[in-house]
Amino acid sequence: MTPSKHFTRTLGLALCLTATALSSTLAQAKTFRMAIGDNVGGTQYELGVKFAEEFKARTGGKHEAKLFPNSQLGSEEDTVSNAAMGTLDFSILAINNVTPFSPSVGVLTLPYMIQSLDDAVTLTQSEIGQNLTDNTVRDAGVRIIGWAYSGFRVLTNSKRPVTTLADLEGLQIRVPKNEIMIDTYRAWGINPTPMAWAETFTGLQLKVVDGQDNPYITVSAMKFDEVQKYITNIRYLFSIEPLIISESVFQEQPADVQQAILAAGKAATEHSAQFLVAEEEKIKKELTAKGMVIADPANGEKEWIDRAVAQVWPKYVDQLGKDNLNKALQAMGRDPL
Ligand code: MLT
Repeated sequence: MTPSKHFTRTLGLALCLTATALSSTLAQAKTFRMAIGDNVGGTQYELGVKFAEEFKARTGGKHEAKLFPNSQLGSEEDTVSNAAMGTLDFSILAINNVTPFSPSVGVLTLPYMIQSLDDAVTLTQSEIGQNLTDNTVRDAGVRIIGWAYSGFRVLTNSKRPVTTLADLEGLQIRVPKNEIMIDTYRAWGINPTPMAWAETFTGLQLKVVDGQDNPYITVSAMKFDEVQKYITNIRYLFSIEPLIISESVFQEQPADVQQAILAAGKAATEHSAQFLVAEEEKIKKELTAKGMVIADPANGEKEWIDRAVAQVWPKYVDQLGKDNLNKALQAMGRDPL
């Protein structure tokens, strides 16, 4: 082969390899779709925004996450199924809407289990949280890679102030399709109405239901003040909202992208706890200024706590596993069962 022919062939090969490398780099760049159950302004959205920022930075700008708030991509329950099938990349939703797909996360929705933000952080960021993540991968085909902390779910309604269980009688209260929460309201003496999150605002607006429970920040982000008047500061459930990724999508990523996803999820989780502390009191005042009336449950919530603990816990001890519950209680510094 003459030197000039050799040069031409080498150049051709080099150009070909460069083009292949370039096209594979371009092909790999991806905009991941992230469903968000709540509206803009809530803890879920804040977690998503922080995750997207961190993820983009950690992949050198190559990958992005596009957020679809306010259940645009379907109800929270549907987003779990879609992520499991790999037709959706990410979703941020309330843990209570993951429980039907992976019952062991019910440990986070047992009434009065989590009594503070510290408890929530302890459970989610310890071996217990890691086990729950492993379980969701196994049971539901989704991996938890971050957590939003949203505060206690307070009870709202459009009819009257509620401070006792007697006040609750006769009210139609919407609950998520979560057995533990349904049983809690039954223990409180009423039959609640299970309803998908995406239908809840309309349900309240059309008075299909009189009330619901969700954290202050969620009440505000969802504009429930437009259709609800009274708030009761019950503290039976501290709302935790995981950021999940489709396990099949996660496994398709190269190691460096997987690392970026996990690190971005961790950074967003840390930000979420700070956001809650900074925002919750401010939002409470805003809701009062908009005309909502806030009351504490009578007698330090005693009858609410007693009934829920006496009637709901025994039913779920076997299902959730006494050992698992005790590990969680001990991690939070409380006595085992
Ligand atoms: C629900 O009530 O279904 C959820 O907690 C809503 C949410 O994701 O904020």
